[in-house]
Amino acid sequence: MPEVDLRVSLAGVELKNPVVAASGTFGFGREYGQFYDLGELGGICVKGLTATRREGNPAPRIAETPMGILNSVGLQNPGVDAFIAEELPFLRQFDTRVIANISGNTPEEYGEMCEKLSAAGVDLIEVNISCPNVKAGGLAYGTRPELAAEVTGEAKRHAGKVPVMVKLSPNVTDITEIARAAADAGADALSLINTLRGMRIDVDTRRPILKMNTGGLSGPAVLPVAVRMVWEVHTAVPHLPILGMGGVSGGEDAAQLMLAGASAVAVGTALFADPYAPLKVRDGLRDIAARQGLDKVRSLTGAVRPW
Ligand SMILES: Cc1cc2nc3c(=O)[nH]c(=O)nc-3n(C[C@H](O)[C@H](O)[C@H](O)COP(=O)(O)O)c2cc1C
Repeated sequence: MPEVDLRVSLAGVELKNPVVAASGTFGFGREYGQFYDLGELGGICVKGLTATRREGNPAPRIAETPMGILNSVGLQNPGVDAFIAEELPFLRQFDTRVIANISGNTPEEYGEMCEKLSAAGVDLIEVNISCPNVKAGGLAYGTRPELAAEVTGEAKRHAGKVPVMVKLSPNVTDITEIARAAADAGADALSLINTLRGMRIDVDTRRPILKMNTGGLSGPAVLPVAVRMVWEVHTAVPHLPILGMGGVSGGEDAAQLMLAGASAVAVGTALFADPYAPLKVRDGLRDIAARQGLDKVRSLTGAVRPW
């Protein structure tokens, strides 16, 4: 079979292959680095960072569901300064792109974090406007076009030369409204989907399984929703590159997201069952491209043939 060029571009940043570790499922890479060279990955989205350290939500904060999991981790992280001092130097040892994922309570917090991360030299900033677990406003930014635009604008003003990728929430009636608002406010790329709000109840105790009552659904169950939303967003703002995610565990899943319009894909929940999942996704994508006679994997992007 012919060699397939796996390189893709995301907002002008070249990835050696289209597969990225999804934020919140890969920590800062240290645990997975025991299994393989992190330089095998196209990129690593780090755990969601906040302006100051957060302990996250009380346990239980993970519940299994058919074909997925619910989580209410609540952005447990050491804070942006500790990330820059202690985790970024570790990640920089590897030949991969480092994507900093950030969540703020106010637009100003997003701006401050962008300034610090830009000075520290991350490759991309992923602005999480969609986390459903944080009571302090996280949901609102991703569900209202004007708030999404405000946060995007603030991030862009402070990110310097580092491209800003806005991560969209699927918990909205029309995701293209938010995508357009972020695009108009200057986003360089979009990523989607974050988790879908869900709930599970123990019928004997009549208590929700999660201490926070509700959580975010991820894993194979959400893939068709992710494919549909990537397709809608790509159609609405075709000029913006998309990092697609939601339920990817193999090459076929990733190829679907790319055909729907994603330039690259992230693997999250699948990592919990198999730390090698991103490498299998990469190899699966290569096989699909080769089988179809493509010389570059990026020709899959947006190539769906809708009826
Ligand atoms: C345990 C867990 C923690 C997560 N933490 C974050 C986070 O900190 N920031 C963020 O933007 N997304 C976070 N996510 C969402 C994922 O990055 C991803 O968008 C979502 O899980 C869908 O992909 P998947 O089905 O491959 O997991 C988290 C997901 C899980 C399962």
